[in-house]
Amino acid sequence: MSTTIVSTQVGILGGGPAGLMLSHLLARAGIDNVVVEKRDHATISTTHRAGILEHGSVQMLAETGVDGRVLTDGHRHDGIDLRFGGESHRIDFQDLVGESVWLYPQNEVFVDLAAARARDCGDVRCSVSDTEVLDVATDTPKIRLTEADGTSVEVRCRILVGADGSHSICRQAVPDRTDHFIEYPFAWFGILTEAPPSAPELIYARSEHGFALISQRSDTVQRMYFQCDPGEDASSWSEEQIWDELQRRVDGADGFELTRGRIFEQMVLPFRSYVCEPLRHSNLFLVGDAGHTVPPTGAKGLNLALADVKVLAEALTSFFGDGSTALLDGYSDTALRRVWKAQNFSYWMTSMLHTRSDATAFERKRALGELATITESRYGQQYLAEGYTGWPSK
Ligand code: DHB
Repeated sequence: MSTTIVSTQVGILGGGPAGLMLSHLLARAGIDNVVVEKRDHATISTTHRAGILEHGSVQMLAETGVDGRVLTDGHRHDGIDLRFGGESHRIDFQDLVGESVWLYPQNEVFVDLAAARARDCGDVRCSVSDTEVLDVATDTPKIRLTEADGTSVEVRCRILVGADGSHSICRQAVPDRTDHFIEYPFAWFGILTEAPPSAPELIYARSEHGFALISQRSDTVQRMYFQCDPGEDASSWSEEQIWDELQRRVDGADGFELTRGRIFEQMVLPFRSYVCEPLRHSNLFLVGDAGHTVPPTGAKGLNLALADVKVLAEALTSFFGDGSTALLDGYSDTALRRVWKAQNFSYWMTSMLHTRSDATAFERKRALGELATITESRYGQQYLAEGYTGWPSK
């Protein structure tokens, strides 16, 4: 069967938010690119991921002509509550660091970026199969794929970017990489419920029964999570059991009560920390989950992917502009500096707020001491606020 050859400057494997944002930024800089994605639009737009955007991510969406709804439909949050010992302690981001975050779900970011690429006639090929990457150490790396209609296609490019998520095939093409990896002995049980918000802002709760996060989606839909065993069977829990479990993790003398509603989605989300070093092999570059994964506490995953994309888009603009390789050569080190800060932040938030089932009384009390160190000190609060809202990009 014949193969259709498509030539472009940048081939991007993966059409989630990272791949589409890169495609969008490159197109704005006049750099031709093709995006290839295995999933279809409906699957990505209904896959629920985290919901918090750092101010830098919002700025990227708002200032680069995505024309999305983040500023109109997203909700600005100026703080969070840390809840432990049955009491809430507000961390006021605006007062502490003069920044905010936005509650705007990742699947909506995807919808906005996909609409922007369609509006600008970007070449985005979804529902493809049999993807392979070849010749990444030559000046014509390639992506081979089969289109949804059965056509075989070879995308020939100058630079290949792996934005293909945590099960990345591009990563396999980095031969001299180190895989840094840790697993956690817990997972999150996540729900979506039809209910009004239980509180004005997000609540991160540590209790003797484990962690809970009370997040939101809209005035009528809420997102909540609680720490569970990684082997937990989500479907075996009744609505009442879920609500009782969430409630006992936020119980306190102030009588705080969750507003209950119908639960229409429940799933277990295992998590881990992972970093691939370096994020490059020759003419192949990795962005987002293809290069690193963080545990969800603090919602750094998408924000980190967008930060990678920003650095790489600037480097590619310089390379295709005047042939300069300095920024491309610095990409992996520059991106990894932020990645390791975010790894530390996500690890820290996770370990401070979760309880291991084998934790000793010393460990449980030490964690409460750590939380008090944060909430009773302006410096401690500032450390959290700066990491949560996002460090400056330069
Ligand atoms: C959400 C997820 C997170 O991991 C987090 O830290 C905050 C919010 C969410 O899905 O809403």
